[in-house]
Amino acid sequence: MKVRKAASAIDYRTLAKRRLPPFLFEYIDGGSYAEVTLRRNVADLEAIALRQRVLNDVSQIDLSTDLFGQTLALPVALAPIGLAGMNARRGEVQAARAAEAAGIPFTLSTVSACPLDEVAAGTRKPFWFQLYMIRDRGFMRDLLEKAKALGCSALVFTVDMPVPGSRYRDYHSGLAGAPGMMGAMRRVWQGAMHPRWAWDVGINGRPHQLGNVTPVLGKDSGLEDFFAWMRDNFDPRVTWRDLDFIRAIWDGPLIIKGILDPDDARAAVDVGADGLVVSNHGGRQLDGVPSTAHALPAIADAVDGRLTVLADGGVRSGLDVVRMLALGAKGVLLGRAWAYALAGGGQAGVAHMLRLVEAEMRVAMALTGCTRIAAIDRSILV
Ligand code: FNR
Repeated sequence: MKVRKAASAIDYRTLAKRRLPPFLFEYIDGGSYAEVTLRRNVADLEAIALRQRVLNDVSQIDLSTDLFGQTLALPVALAPIGLAGMNARRGEVQAARAAEAAGIPFTLSTVSACPLDEVAAGTRKPFWFQLYMIRDRGFMRDLLEKAKALGCSALVFTVDMPVPGSRYRDYHSGLAGAPGMMGAMRRVWQGAMHPRWAWDVGINGRPHQLGNVTPVLGKDSGLEDFFAWMRDNFDPRVTWRDLDFIRAIWDGPLIIKGILDPDDARAAVDVGADGLVVSNHGGRQLDGVPSTAHALPAIADAVDGRLTVLADGGVRSGLDVVRMLALGAKGVLLGRAWAYALAGGGQAGVAHMLRLVEAEMRVAMALTGCTRIAAIDRSILV
């Protein structure tokens, strides 16, 4: 796919809006309820002022960092995004390749379009796998064992979705809600009005399935079956004790994603997690909770280095990455930023977006007087 290049990482949102059928664009772009938390994530991060420092030698800036035993080119990973494979032909493989080339981890969602083995076959380096708690523990066990056998280098266990948040845009756009044929016809019509997407994904990007879930959903399942499966199978009974089940199967790095409160962060330390992600699911779950930029400093203080704190939510630039690091994160997950870039330009779009993020980080570090990632801390905040 030829890339019409975006001038900044967030410009890919505009390209994505043009290229995707609305049911897919609104799915990425939207949050839950009135989208207050979604807006807060972006606004609170943007409002963080950095201290400009001058006349330091910033000729050598090292962006590399060690996370969970891996050396990364940037303190950044691609967050798990469900259905991302529908944004470009076999989209998760394309994004994973871009992440690999940039020297950062890609996280494959449980509910990705491409299954674990397809992404493993399309890449050379290990990627991370994200898991939800699912009622059928046998299915979970199979997925964990598969991720282990394929060499996934970390497990991201998402805990902020015992029940799905209400995302009203999905009802308006035709992704969810409209029963059976009606919904399917709306989506086909939207696809037909976006011929570039229709050719790239609609026709040449098949099969349109949730690759990891196909064994239980069946090959002929549609989107309605997927949403029904999520409603019926995400396990609302999950508690901290269920971490034992995961630990018994998964002995690699375990990262708990969806922590927003210092008490939960301390509980994550107590269960022996290696890391946590300060996250409100990009404002897609409980609307009204604080932004992650707001929640992060108290959580970093609470865990006090006993596990690795990552953060996501509203990160749209390299500057935002530096802000999250200054607030106490050791690494930052990019969510919508890569989903937009994938829709806007496929693998090349994600690679370009990551180069923009890196360039922005370099400028931010140079002008705050930081030449190493470890030097970024609260002292660079006004
Ligand atoms: C997500 N997120 C998510 N998280 C997860 O653990 N598993 C998943 O399958 C998904 N799916 C998903 C789909 C879409 C379209 C979005 C936008 C988000 C949440 C994601 O990993 C991350 O926490 C947020 O995207 C971070 O916020 P920003 O960067 O998008 O603002």
